[in-house]
Order: sequence, then structure tokens, then C-alpha cells
Amino acid sequence: MNIPFNKVYITGNEEKYMLEALYSGKQCGNHGFCTKVIDLMKAKHGFNEVFLVPSGTAALEMGAVLANIAPGDEVILPSYTFSSTVNAVVLFGAIPVFCESEPETMNIDASKIEALITPRTKMILPIDYAGVSCEIDLIMEIANRHNLIVMQDCAQSYGTYFKGKAAGSQAHLATFSFHETKNFSAGEGGALVVNVPEWEERAHFIQEKGTDRRLVLNGVKNKYSWVDKGSSYLLSDILAAMLLAQLEQEDKLKSIRSNITKAYFDLFAPYEKKGFLSYFKIKDYIDINHHAFWVIFDTVENQQFFMAKLRDYKVSAYIGYLALHSAPKGLEYGYKESDLPITQDLTDRIVRMPFYTELGEQGLEYCMESMKKVLDEMYS
Ligand SMILES: Cc1ncc(COP(=O)(O)O)c(C=O)c1O
Repeated sequence: MNIPFNKVYITGNEEKYMLEALYSGKQCGNHGFCTKVIDLMKAKHGFNEVFLVPSGTAALEMGAVLANIAPGDEVILPSYTFSSTVNAVVLFGAIPVFCESEPETMNIDASKIEALITPRTKMILPIDYAGVSCEIDLIMEIANRHNLIVMQDCAQSYGTYFKGKAAGSQAHLATFSFHETKNFSAGEGGALVVNVPEWEERAHFIQEKGTDRRLVLNGVKNKYSWVDKGSSYLLSDILAAMLLAQLEQEDKLKSIRSNITKAYFDLFAPYEKKGFLSYFKIKDYIDINHHAFWVIFDTVENQQFFMAKLRDYKVSAYIGYLALHSAPKGLEYGYKESDLPITQDLTDRIVRMPFYTELGEQGLEYCMESMKKVLDEMYS
């Protein structure tokens, strides 16, 4: 049996909807299927306004434009994240200020944010690693006190809840990814959530190449003009059609995926008890979307051994992100490895387990048996 790291789950209506979009005569952004997806996202999760964009990366960039990120602005973000998070602000001349992560979630350590704030700080940019929400209420409280913008990178957390509120519904801005590696796929796709109503109109202009085309479509004007900076931040209706089929099955997919989380907790718990490894802790006020599962091994050698041995069983597990502050580009900003020792140490020992919806239906037993054999060989 072969257990890949990730695999897209087809829910059944993708082909029908995509053909409908194909022959509708309208395949560009913000048409029929886009509207359906936006309405569904708002109704299900209480977002103020949603913009469908070509990727999670594009969502972050559009958010940076909307937040007027400019040269010299400082943006506080975790070092443990994907390059897209930092690039979105660096592209506009901002200086990244990296914050440590907390070992229990690998999310930004909110208790260390305030010490990093300076008069030049413009934004806090946390992520929800593995679908587990960051401490968003604490982060919003800090941001409000210092008049900062929060853009929450929810690339991995569509369908997660924090104290009963959907991930992405509390920050000023939030971004989602619908890349094929995520719980819900458009192949490539993303969304920017704008929770500040006064920013909505400008977001429409930025999404439409910096024009007020929106006002023409709404019958307010008869010719549109260049009114702002912007780009083409639109998702094709054909991809929105695929996404709609996926999002309509959100609850079913979440339930199937929860089998995988449970199996991993059961498998790794005895080894954690003996102090060999650790994995994420979910606080009782967080309801996760079952996006991923990670383990931090006791040594780098055991991390390497685990992944290599699993390959013999054709089970694919991978390392997580590499810390950004010590990456070649991070060093250019004057960072060195020892500046964020906690993140650096955890990054070197983490492993992400295979996690995809179909695994919750088949292959789970084989996957767990293979891992147990490797763990017993390591820790006997
Ligand atoms: C935290 C985070 N932000 C942003 C992205 C980028 O998303 P996309 O691949 O849709 O551009 C990813 C992708 O995995 C991610 O993990």
C-alpha cells in the first residue's frame, strides 16, 4: 500500500459544476459560481465580506495593498511560516519582525508580541498552523491597544472555530488558501476576508486592477476609471465551481478527517507519555478543522530515522516549514539562527504526517501499523 502525503478528495459535484461554468458564457471572476461560494462562506462562517482570489499568496498580497503596507513599515509575524506570509509584506518594502512560536501549537507566541512593537509597527500577521487557531482574541486586544492592523493567515484553517467564532472572522483581514494541499481545493485558489466594512469598497477596486469597475457593474457610473493601486486578484468562475462542490461538503469532510486526528492521537499518546515526543495541544475553546498532524521528536536523528524508515513502508511524512529568520533571505534582514532559539530547535525536529480526506476512509490502519513498527524500533 502507498500512503502519499496529500491527495485531493473529489466530492462528486465538481465535474457537473465546472462544466456548467464552462458553458455559462462567463468564466471570469465574480460570476455565478464565485457569488455562490462567497454567499456560502459568509452564511456558514459569519465573514463580513469575501473576495475570491487566485491563491492564498494572492490573498495575502491583496491584503497588504489594502492595509497600505509601505516601505519601512514593520510587520510582526512568526518565523515558523510559509514564504508567502512574509513575501506579501516584503514585496511592498516592509521589514519583517520575526516572533517566536509556542511549542504547543507552533503558532506565534502572543505573549512575546508586545515587546516587538515599535513606532514603525503597522501590522501583526499571525498564522493558524495545521489548522489550529492562533490566540486571536489576545492578538486583537494587543493590536487595538496599539492601533495596529491584524491580518490572520488562515491558509490552513478554513472551518476551524476559536471560542465559537470561525477562524478568519475576527481579525481586520484574513486569508484562506484553496490550494490542492488544503482541506478544500480549487486546484489553486484563495480568499481574502475583509471584516472592516469601511475597507470593502477599496478592496473591490484593488481586486479589479485598481479601477472602479464595481461601480459600473452596480449601475452607479457608466465608465470606469483608474482610482487606486491594484492588480488582477480574481479567481476564475470555473475554479470557483470546483470550490463550491468542495465547500458544500464541509461538514462531511470534517467528520471523515476527524478519524485521522483521532488515530494519530491514539498512536502517539503512549510515546508522548514516556517523554519521547510531543504533538500539538488543542485548547478546549478551539474546534479544529482537522487539517494536519505534526510531531516533534526528541532528537534530529530520530526525526530523520522516522521519515526514512517510513519510506520503506511507502508512507510519506515530511518536515514542516524551515524557519524564515535563518533562511538565506531572513539572514539578509540581519537575523541569525540564535535570535529565535525556540523556533529553530522545534523546526529541526518536527515531522508532518500524511493527512488527506481519503485517508480517513481507507489506508488509515496500514498507516498507523507502519508508524507503530517504526516507533517501536526507535524507542524499544
Ligand atoms: C501559512 C500559509 N500561508 C500561505 C500559503 C500560500 O497559499 P497558496 O499555496 O494558496 O498560495 C500557504 C501554503 O501552504 C501556507 O501554509
